[in-house]
Amino acid sequence: MKEMNWFSDAHYGLFIHWGLYSLMGGVHEGKEIPYGAEWIQKNAGIPLHEYRKLAARFNPVKFDAAEVVRRAKKWGMKYIVFTAKHVDGFAMYDSKVSSYNIMHTPYRQDPLRALADECEKQGLMLGIYYSQNQDWEDPNGWGNELDFPPNSEKDFAKYFHEKALPQVKELLTNYGKVGLMWFDTPYSMPKELCEELRAAVNALQPNCLINGRIGYNLGDYREMADNEIPVLPYEKPWETPMTLNQTWGYSSVDEHWKSPAEVIERLVEVVEKGGNLLLNVGPDGLGNIPEGSCAVLDEVGAWLEKNGESIYGTAGVPAFPYQNRWGHITRKGTRLYLHVFRYPDFPYEILLCNLRQKVRKVTLLETGEALTFYQSYEIGRNEYRFRVILPEKPERPSWDTVVCAECESAELSFEPLA
Ligand code: GLC
Repeated sequence: MKEMNWFSDAHYGLFIHWGLYSLMGGVHEGKEIPYGAEWIQKNAGIPLHEYRKLAARFNPVKFDAAEVVRRAKKWGMKYIVFTAKHVDGFAMYDSKVSSYNIMHTPYRQDPLRALADECEKQGLMLGIYYSQNQDWEDPNGWGNELDFPPNSEKDFAKYFHEKALPQVKELLTNYGKVGLMWFDTPYSMPKELCEELRAAVNALQPNCLINGRIGYNLGDYREMADNEIPVLPYEKPWETPMTLNQTWGYSSVDEHWKSPAEVIERLVEVVEKGGNLLLNVGPDGLGNIPEGSCAVLDEVGAWLEKNGESIYGTAGVPAFPYQNRWGHITRKGTRLYLHVFRYPDFPYEILLCNLRQKVRKVTLLETGEALTFYQSYEIGRNEYRFRVILPEKPERPSWDTVVCAECESAELSFEPLA
């Protein structure tokens, strides 16, 4: 069994999409190209011989691995996942397998090396994204029909054995401990090859987790659809990758940032259902993380600094019968955390129905202030009611006011609607 606790306890990670596409910023010949900016080669129909010219201009002198890791920690993230090779096939690390890599740009430095060293030094778990199936530079890789139209000569296994697998081995050999391998878009990659990939990861780093997008349920945890949060609690470990605007790779035109309140609520919803949020930033062609992302993540980090107890190390909440219009619930041991995103008006009361546990004490997490609460049970309706009276509504309530209810037992359960 792999060591999964670090992942299940972390709940919050930083995704970094960075590559040659970052130079284009989602714009081609003056036109904004819709959908992920990291897919611009395909979405704008750019032939490979044109796209690869970006390498001659790639010189991200502003990239500062120490600062990225320091920020991720300040933002409250417990791991990072870095795109070592995205669908375009360009390696953002020193690869001996393929010369289509960052050492053959004016930059001539290995950002993954720098990130791995900083993660080790500053104590953050390193995860690596690798596009195992799609590779738009390799004639036998999947996905580039423009330069390599499908024909009977295509030999996916050749690409897999001569590029993908050897590169994954490099990644798991040359960068120290890797917490997880993040595979993507497996589509209809043959199962035997997915199994071979899994075996290679497990042989080199037996504790390295593999995400669900390796395909065929071969991963160690479930990867949810991009930006989607399950409605029902999901028992096994899982993760939702999420964008902060509407693209993964850097866009010079997309400023549709989620607000701090939205990010915190998405994070709490994910944690309520037992999962992890992997939230993305897309550094630009110089290596700067966009200001718009930093501003939001700073706020979220400040909230987490005070309220992290209600997020890290928490377990998923079992199904409960009613929506809580004020917000969401998380829990750890005997503690229930009620996350109030919509602060009630006078008499400032929130209600949680059908909680079976006896509550001993209720406080505001940030200040420790004790709050008045009531618990009742009405046999006629088979209904438990747990009510908490919050302090008078502040002029500007926190994004999420966290109420901590100390229960008598850790066995959280809700009376179902019979
Ligand atoms: C989708 C996109 C890909 C991105 C990934 C992140 O699969 O196609 O570009 O890296 O989502 O979850």
